[in-house]
Amino acid sequence: MNDKNKDRWLGLDCGTGGTRALLVDAQGVVRAAHSAAHAPIDMPQPLWAEQRPEDWWRAAREAIGAVLRGAGDIAIRGIGLSGQMHGVVLLDRDGAVLGPSIIWCDQRAHREAEALTAQIGYERALALTANPILPALSAPKLLWLQEHRPGEFKRARRFLLPKDYIRFQLSGEFATDLADASGTGLLDVANRRWSEPMRAALGLPEGFLPSLHEGPEVTGRVSAAAAAATGLASGIPIVAGGGDQAAGAVGNGIVRPGLASATVGTSGVVFAATDRPQTDARGSIHAFCHAVPGQWHAMGVTQAAGLSFRWLRDQLCPGAGDEAYDALCREAATAPPGCNGLIFLPYLMGERAPHLDPHARGGWLGLTAAHTRAHLIRAVLEGVAFSLKDCLAVLAGMNILPRRILLSGGGARGTVWPQIQADVYGVPCGRWRNSEGAAYGAALLAMTGTGRFASVAEACDQTLAADAEFAPGNARLYAAAYDLYRALYPRLKDLFPHMATAAAAG
Ligand code: XUL
Repeated sequence: MNDKNKDRWLGLDCGTGGTRALLVDAQGVVRAAHSAAHAPIDMPQPLWAEQRPEDWWRAAREAIGAVLRGAGDIAIRGIGLSGQMHGVVLLDRDGAVLGPSIIWCDQRAHREAEALTAQIGYERALALTANPILPALSAPKLLWLQEHRPGEFKRARRFLLPKDYIRFQLSGEFATDLADASGTGLLDVANRRWSEPMRAALGLPEGFLPSLHEGPEVTGRVSAAAAAATGLASGIPIVAGGGDQAAGAVGNGIVRPGLASATVGTSGVVFAATDRPQTDARGSIHAFCHAVPGQWHAMGVTQAAGLSFRWLRDQLCPGAGDEAYDALCREAATAPPGCNGLIFLPYLMGERAPHLDPHARGGWLGLTAAHTRAHLIRAVLEGVAFSLKDCLAVLAGMNILPRRILLSGGGARGTVWPQIQADVYGVPCGRWRNSEGAAYGAALLAMTGTGRFASVAEACDQTLAADAEFAPGNARLYAAAYDLYRALYPRLKDLFPHMATAAAAG
């Protein structure tokens, strides 16, 4: 007879900084977790960002191996995958990787995005994919590869998203989920299928794109080769899972219209579940499929949220690890809210929502000799919160008005950054006790897809428990600081392209 106490589900998130594996029991309790770091992002030119798929697979094997070791006598019932979105992995006819992957935060394809928009038409692109064609999406990156690495592109037979390369390694299947596929710019988001006109516009052959699945759907099973490489038993079902934001939303219980979250990972994301695809007039809010079957979501993504804080840590504390973040937050807390007029613009990788400007640049403004290191640090935390408030303001314009926001990612750690966020958003913020984000959401999708729960909503209702709540304060002060922040971009934006040219000139 099966001993249900030994049942486990594996959630695997192929992020930017690393791959995280979680083993979850039948009650949704995390029994083991391990993160394996990726090699640093390769940035051969300003605003370029590349990683090696082989390195993700190495990290996945390491993370899986670490959670299996010491797990004892368990039975893994299912695997859910999540991962960074919008990246491009090209495989040749033998399934070998062709070159490094151009990842989500790479902004090099802005000309290709414009060319594709001109070719297809802005309105038609919106009608076909529910979104404008932005440089961050996979489609313009594919076009860039066609133009700039034609040899590589000619040999390509398959396109995969980052986590789906891990799926391919685990099961030999070419498959993806609808949420991740939404971020390619090639999906008919409203009808939850590939857009044939978009595929044709890029000249991609049939069979080039992976098969499409709802988040909890089983796409394949662990192969004998993958079992040998990882220590997993062969035959374990693997569900589609979700792009990291949709999977993270599942892990945060954002699975019904009316609920919203703010996540500070490398990027910053404001995410609201919706019952239809919805974007704003400029298309700065992504209208994507949710990892919950039959649902969509509206999502504002900033380019450099956690990335700004990591950059700061690396400059102030070279060689330090994650523990330095807590020390920096303690130091930030010694500076007053509003930083005596010091404002940080977190546009270190250009900006997506709401400005859609690959040339935007970051910086501190309002610096005086009276400001200290603590002000500089606090201003970064506040600036990232302001950039997410910009996304909330666009959602408000679409009549999406969350009454409570679930915090997750690095921005949900401790009390300093969560309180800054509640104050800046002016909305009560909460966090779950088990704030594991995308890898946890992937595990919940696996539990749903293998019958442990009847629906994704049931999975969340039965596993998530509230932790801390942060009531908004300092309303007048932060409203004034946000007005200042908001006034800066329009005044600076004409200068940014000149700075970009100067940076490219070296
Ligand atoms: C979502 C996005 C990022 C990446 C990396 O649109 O670009 O969240 O998925 O995490």
